[in-house]
Amino acid sequence: MGMLVQSSLLHFSSAVLILLLLPMPNGMASGECDVFTGTWVHDQSYPLYDPAKCPFLQHEFTCQKNGRPDLIYTHYRWQPLACNLPRFNGRFLLERLRGKRIMFVGDSLSLNQWQSLTCMLHSAVPTSNYSLTRVGDVSIFSFTEYGVKVMLHRSVYLVDVVRETIGRVLKLDSVEGGAKLWKNVDVLIFNTWHWWSRRGPTQPWDYIEVGHQIIKDMDRMKAFQRALTTWAGWVDANIDPTKVKVFFQGISPSHYNGSLWNEPSAKSCMQERTPLSGSRYPGGLPAAVAVLKVVLSKMKKPVTLLDITALSLLRKDAHPSIYGLGGSTGNDCSHWCLAGVPDTWNQLLYNFLIQRKNMIHN
Ligand SMILES: *[C@@H]1O[C@H](CO)[C@@H](O)[C@H](O)[C@H]1NC(C)=O
Ligand SMILES: *[C@@H]1O[C@H](CO)[C@@H](O)[C@H](O)[C@H]1NC(C)=O
Repeated sequence: MGMLVQSSLLHFSSAVLILLLLPMPNGMASGECDVFTGTWVHDQSYPLYDPAKCPFLQHEFTCQKNGRPDLIYTHYRWQPLACNLPRFNGRFLLERLRGKRIMFVGDSLSLNQWQSLTCMLHSAVPTSNYSLTRVGDVSIFSFTEYGVKVMLHRSVYLVDVVRETIGRVLKLDSVEGGAKLWKNVDVLIFNTWHWWSRRGPTQPWDYIEVGHQIIKDMDRMKAFQRALTTWAGWVDANIDPTKVKVFFQGISPSHYNGSLWNEPSAKSCMQERTPLSGSRYPGGLPAAVAVLKVVLSKMKKPVTLLDITALSLLRKDAHPSIYGLGGSTGNDCSHWCLAGVPDTWNQLLYNFLIQRKNMIHN
């Protein structure tokens, strides 16, 4: 019985319904299994959608359209070691989210995941009307017939950056600017990390405010931790977990140093065509992961970490490289081609959203 359900899961998108109707056999309850430890397996039934049929996909992620010749990297499925993930069913998710708002908040990795989710949902209901608008820093993708809004709030630090007379001030203790936009949203998925190490002309602030002090700079990992703690304080004070589900997207890794995946001659992801096999990345986890986990562990309200770092580290093959923005911006080994790895992040998000205990109440 267990095996039957298990194999049908891999083949039928209606499996989600089966999951809800049947008691889960041992080892199948993905809510109780570590879905983040596993391997990438070749699966010709992937990718989950044809990126050419996703007209709103942004240029920086459309690797095939930008000339990437190999496709093997699109035919991989994430396989947890201890259980199976339900196959993504976009129609089911739209029904489940009917009338609700879901918002990604963060930097361009949030943009990457937001674009992925809108493609995954649109490809499930290709003839269903949608609209795409932008109001200030918020992009809104509406599935009008379902009343579902999938939104993106671009906020690279989560905390505020405010223009004052002395210049632009990064306020590690304040999320006021963002928090206004996070009200009345039913599912929030936060992310910040990549901008904390920026220096020079692309650093978008001149001073840091921390406590009652204004300083020119500080240890960036400490600044990151302080900002996360501020964000966590806002969640603890403002979120009603019976109404709102909160996720943290996790640290998305880059691939610019082949020594970290036992290929010292590789100076970037450029020539990579296949994932690493197995579950372990030789170079270990970025230090930011531990900082994030410490902050999350001290929170009072439940936040689900989409712990996507380790599984994404194995995908040195899945970045746009020269098939992204191209031109002088060159070789992108930080973002991800779509279709691609962020689809798996969304499959994991889906896995948590459809669990009965995570049902959102009105
Ligand atoms: C989509 O929108 C158009 C124009 O507003 C409308 O004519 C059409 O009936 C809508 N389609 C569906 C399936 O609701
Ligand atoms: C790449 O990683 C190796 C191993 O950690 C390290 O010794 C080396 O300095 C790194 N190279 C660069 C260019 O960062």
